[in-house]
Amino acid sequence: MNEILSITDIRAGYGALDVIFNIKMNIKPGEIVAVIGPNGAGKSTLLKVISGVLRSNKGKVTYKSKDITNKSPQEIVKMGLSWVPQENNIFSKMTVRENLEIGAFILDENIDERLDEVFLIFPQLKDRMDQIAGSLSGGQRQMLAIARGLMIHPELLLLDEPTAGLAPNLAHDMLIKIKNITEKFGNAVLLVTQTLNALELSERVYLLTAGEIKYEDTTDNFLNNQEIKELYFGGIKHK
Ligand SMILES: Nc1ncnc2c1ncn2[C@@H]1O[C@H](COP(=O)(O)OP(=O)(O)O)[C@@H](O)[C@H]1O
Ligand SMILES: [Mg+2]
Repeated sequence: MNEILSITDIRAGYGALDVIFNIKMNIKPGEIVAVIGPNGAGKSTLLKVISGVLRSNKGKVTYKSKDITNKSPQEIVKMGLSWVPQENNIFSKMTVRENLEIGAFILDENIDERLDEVFLIFPQLKDRMDQIAGSLSGGQRQMLAIARGLMIHPELLLLDEPTAGLAPNLAHDMLIKIKNITEKFGNAVLLVTQTLNALELSERVYLLTAGEIKYEDTTDNFLNNQEIKELYFGGIKHK
């Protein structure tokens, strides 16, 4: 088995209410895979289960051939799996530097070298090291959130709607950065999105609606499948 991540039959939710069901998916090392689906489909819930912040009620998550189901977020991060949440993904009262240092909390080594690597991807952050994160623009905050996630040398990066709220040109720049990251660091990415434009990055795509994976295919086949697109995205606006 050469997958970096493999999920079988996951079911999870909040309190007595399950919101994702029978989730099955896999990702190979270095691969970019998208999960697309409308608001409320359960995309963020799925990432919470993988990263260990939400317990699953059923099923199994395997990462680098180890069972990580319901392990703590700290244990999972230490294995090189980084999650960039959709919301509250930076400490807005701290500086850019402090945010990045916190991102590296599991590293024993001197982090200066790692900072330099991350700045090659996001040079704008280098110029703003001592700025309070809350004063950054929306695009810069998202860069900082991803940069934080990169500080641990992840082998798998979970990105929750990294282009949400960005103007189309900034969203496009961000997608190119994400591609650059995988080329430079060789990590795999699980990219959660509501919009089709993010699929320019992904090799494969899973469609998640109402808590279930309804379709999976290569991105090319998905984009050429008019029936699927209309059925699930007819009501969604695309930029
Ligand atoms: N903390 C929470 N407590 C209770 N219900 C939640 C919570 N977070 C999300 N939900 C519900 O779970 C469902 C899936 O939400 P979510 O995973 O955030 O969807 P998506 O990320 O695809 O928009 C929605 O019905 C949402 O209202
Ligand atoms: Mg979400």
